[in-house]
Amino acid sequence: MNILVIQPGFPAEIPLFVRGLARMGARVYGVGDQPPHALPATAKEGLSGYLHVQKLWDAGALIQQLRNWSIPVKLDRVECFWEVAMDLAAQVRQAFRIPGLDPETTRLFRNKDLMRRRLDEAGIRNPRHAAATTSAQIRQALEYTGYPAIIKPVSGAGSADTYRVDHPDEFQRILPRLRHIREVVVEEFVTGTEYTFDTITVNGKILFYNVELYRPDMLTARSQEQISPMTISLRDLDQPHFHAALRMSQSVITALGFQTGFTHMEWFHTPSGEVVFGEIAGRPPGGDSGELMNYTCDFDVYNAYAEAVTKGRISQNIGRKYNVAVVFKRAQGQGKIQSIEGLNELAKRYRPHILREELLRPGAKRRDWKQTLLSDGFVILRHPDLDKTLEMADFVANHVRLRAGTG
Ligand SMILES: Nc1ncnc2c1ncn2[C@@H]1O[C@H](COP(=O)(O)OP(=O)(O)OP(=O)(O)O)[C@@H](O)[C@H]1O
Ligand SMILES: [Mg+2]
Repeated sequence: MNILVIQPGFPAEIPLFVRGLARMGARVYGVGDQPPHALPATAKEGLSGYLHVQKLWDAGALIQQLRNWSIPVKLDRVECFWEVAMDLAAQVRQAFRIPGLDPETTRLFRNKDLMRRRLDEAGIRNPRHAAATTSAQIRQALEYTGYPAIIKPVSGAGSADTYRVDHPDEFQRILPRLRHIREVVVEEFVTGTEYTFDTITVNGKILFYNVELYRPDMLTARSQEQISPMTISLRDLDQPHFHAALRMSQSVITALGFQTGFTHMEWFHTPSGEVVFGEIAGRPPGGDSGELMNYTCDFDVYNAYAEAVTKGRISQNIGRKYNVAVVFKRAQGQGKIQSIEGLNELAKRYRPHILREELLRPGAKRRDWKQTLLSDGFVILRHPDLDKTLEMADFVANHVRLRAGTG
């Protein structure tokens, strides 16, 4: 199988998918705007060829350059693991008549209003919602959804420009902050626990899935700096709400016409026991989620994905053995990290269960927590027992502290 990967070297985890495809026997070609020497070694290892383009975002020019590129094969698939390049990938598929997400289907994944409308038609439980482009329309939409509500860009990412509105006065206050967004979607605010539902799917059928708990919900994690957000990849999915989430996720995939590859969904479990759909992306989850899946299942998710795509099956044994927590830390203060406390105590208590500790060290400049969930570093730990996992994660959240300063 001959596969073209758009931007095979970025974001950081993408080379692992590229290498996985090659290990499964695919010939993988890449096109991207990173100069060849800047490609990570793992990506280079997987690539049979690479076309460096100056401007990745001009679809017409990109397609022309791909036509002029003399690779000795006919492409069977175009893969894209990066949200912002999903539309571009769809245009390339269309131009070369390659199966997979076409531009129209991609819009269902990229536009939260179109997505929800299609899912409403399929009878999937969505929050009440309405799209709006003017403040009058937002006001009208808020009357329809009721309070609390969420206002967010119709094609957002990373919870940017996403606001919870509890009261009409609050809408007045946030209105100026919405000016730069062309279209928003207003939604009923769903109170509940927020989870992911990630799948490897073949011909529209889920072959592998994994669920992560966001603790706290992503909006809170992304808007309150003093929090140490955590994601817990869950071991035991044999529970009624996860069964319901699996049924819902399968229905979503069917309703949107997704065929083969990774999907990344988000959903809520409400206190009344309802399972409510959040959103779907037609690509793998970002960050180190693949690693969390590997630590949970003791397998190789990149190979599993690649086998699914190239051979239509997953033959590895998948043992769900551990709950895996990643806890992201944000330093107190601005500037450079000056000190870390609590690491000795953490090691003393939980050393055998700690997989990775990659906190910024003194002297390092703080990262922008608004831009990256990674924040000032993370600790990953795992345990077969969920309560124990949460106890350890809470210890990292509450007792490991980074301080920063400008001195
Ligand atoms: N209707 C809703 N009810 C409750 N919370 C919501 C709702 N819509 C969004 N949120 C919160 O806001 C966060 C961001 O919203 P959403 O996932 O739709 O946007 P995004 O920016 O595409 O997200 P991502 O961070 O996955 O890129 C959600 O993870 C959730 O915590
Ligand atoms: Mg989201």
